[in-house]
This record gives sequence, structure tokens and C-alpha cells, in this order.
Amino acid sequence: MNLTDRPRRLRRDGVRGMVSETDVTASDLIAPVFVDATTDERVPIESMPGHERVPVEEAVARVEEVRSTGVESVMVFGIPESKDERGTRAWADDGVVQEATRRIVDDTDAYVITDVCLCEYTDHGHCGVLEEGARDGADPRLTVENDETLDLLGKIAVSHAAAGADMVAPSGMIDGMVGAIRSALDDAAFRDVPIMSYAAKYESAFYGPFRDAADGAPAFGDRRHYQMDPANRREAMREVRLDIEQGADALMVKPALPYLDIVRDVREEFDHPVAAYNVSGEYAMLHAAAEKGWLDLEAAALESLISIKRAGADLILTYFAEDVAERL
Ligand code: PBG
Repeated sequence: MNLTDRPRRLRRDGVRGMVSETDVTASDLIAPVFVDATTDERVPIESMPGHERVPVEEAVARVEEVRSTGVESVMVFGIPESKDERGTRAWADDGVVQEATRRIVDDTDAYVITDVCLCEYTDHGHCGVLEEGARDGADPRLTVENDETLDLLGKIAVSHAAAGADMVAPSGMIDGMVGAIRSALDDAAFRDVPIMSYAAKYESAFYGPFRDAADGAPAFGDRRHYQMDPANRREAMREVRLDIEQGADALMVKPALPYLDIVRDVREEFDHPVAAYNVSGEYAMLHAAAEKGWLDLEAAALESLISIKRAGADLILTYFAEDVAERL
């Protein structure tokens, strides 16, 4: 046997790292943090082992824990003290995200990104204002009123920026949301606050555990009228292009692992930074399997993140951020 090319020569321990093509570092990772105005103590999130909802008073401590692992950036989600039809607590000056953000920005060096959406704040759990008659779900054709929602998203983003958020991340898949938020921010003189758009967000069964964590499950129906159909790839390019035209600074694909082809497409087609959201279901399923002794959690988590980066993501939002960063 005379093989001239033997790839195995470079798979020895001394050289493996030198020829490695993909690297995951702590600065690539963003850790989701849940701040809950309905509790005065930390509450473990059952479906996401190791994660908790923390009261506003604990937000700084929670972010310090993240920072101590080497992760520098957090995505803040809020659970408000009360919900209503229009989600008014989402843009309240003394709202849960606004209060937490003020404290985190004052007391830590974290880079603070805030989730801009209405589903945790509306009593019906949808990501915007409902169309007339949609309320009880009796007519499944009725859903979120797109253009009325835009105004509210602008208000939310401005209230987050006013509280000191470094970046805002609209996650509702409302048509025109990036443009509406950009002009609301600019009008309020927050020209330097960037927008990371959940540009291609799919209507995914992998969000289940998050909806427990953030208490944002729709009370009726689902989100298929505004989030993308998992079957569609070309449409993701169209969504991303629209967000870029409206001024998005960074582009997110969500979920991550079942949509690595989309991450790759966005990477190849556009120049903007690409983020991928390794969502709650991706986290929970590895934990559940590991709990049964069916796979090695640490190894599977790191391999997941390497795969997401290899597909082309610059940034990864992940519930594994702290665990993985600690071991890097
Ligand atoms: C809400 C929002 C969701 C997630 C992030 N922001 C849930 C949804 O669309 O139902 C999911 C995150 C996760 O599953 O980790 N707009």
C-alpha cells in the first residue's frame, strides 16, 4: 500500500490543535439571563437544568456569575409582574428589563443585549397586538396585527436603550420591525445602539422549554403566521435581506442546530455578523439524554457549539455559555 495523502498524519495530539479550523472562545458566547418581577427569590427553571429566573435584586449577581466564567455578554429576558392585552409593561420605565438593565449597566462591565418582543408581556402570549376578533382563537386565520405592533416595538427598544442597553434584539418576526425600531431609536437620539435582528426565526418545536422559562406560551393558536415555516430556505434569505435594508447590524438565525444550512447561507450571502441561537430545546434534549447516561453532556455541548461556528456563526446565544466557557 503506498498512499501519498494520509490525513491521519495531522490527527496526532501535538498537531491537532494547530490544524484545527474552528475555535469557540468565551467572547463568541452570549448567555441568556431571565429576570422575573414576580419573585423575590431565585427560581430554578425545571426544563433547563442549571438555569434560574432571578428577581431584579439578583440581576447584577447573576450577571457577575456569567462574567466570572469569561462570558462578557448577556441577553436579558423579562417576566413582568403583570400582563395585559397590549403588553404595556414591556415599555414601562420601571419595567423588569428596564430596571434590571439599569442595575447591570451601572454595576458590571457586561455587554447588555435586550430581547425586544411582546410575548412575555401580553396576556394572550402572542408577539404583538391581536387583530380584531382573534382574541379567543375561534378563527384561526386571525392573528397579530402587524403594523400596530411596530409602534410598540419601537417604544420597547427606546425604553431599553434609555435604561442603558448596549444593543437591542427584536425577536418577534414582525414585518418591518427593524426599520421601525431603527427610526424610533434614531428619533430618540440612540443612533449608536445597534440592532441584532432575529432575522430568520423559525416556528419551532424547540422553543418549548423557553416558553416555560419566560412564561410566554401563546394562550391559543401558535406562531406560524409570523415565524418562518421550517420547510423554507430561500425565504430566509429574503427575510435577512429585508432586515439589512432596514438597518440591522447583526443577523440571527434561530434555532441553531436544525438550521445550520441557513447559518451557512447567511454567512455566504451577507457581510454582517451572524449570530445563531442554540435554543432551549437544543439545551434540554442534551441534558435529558445525559441524565439517562446516554451521552456525555460536556462533550456534546462543546461539539454543538463548534458545529454552529463551523457553519458560519460569529456569535452564539446559548444556555451552555457558562459551562463551556469555564472549560475553555
Ligand atoms: C420570544 C422568544 C422566544 C425565544 C426567544 N425569544 C420564544 C418563542 O418565539 O416562542 C425562544 C428561545 C429559546 O427557546 O431558547 N419572542
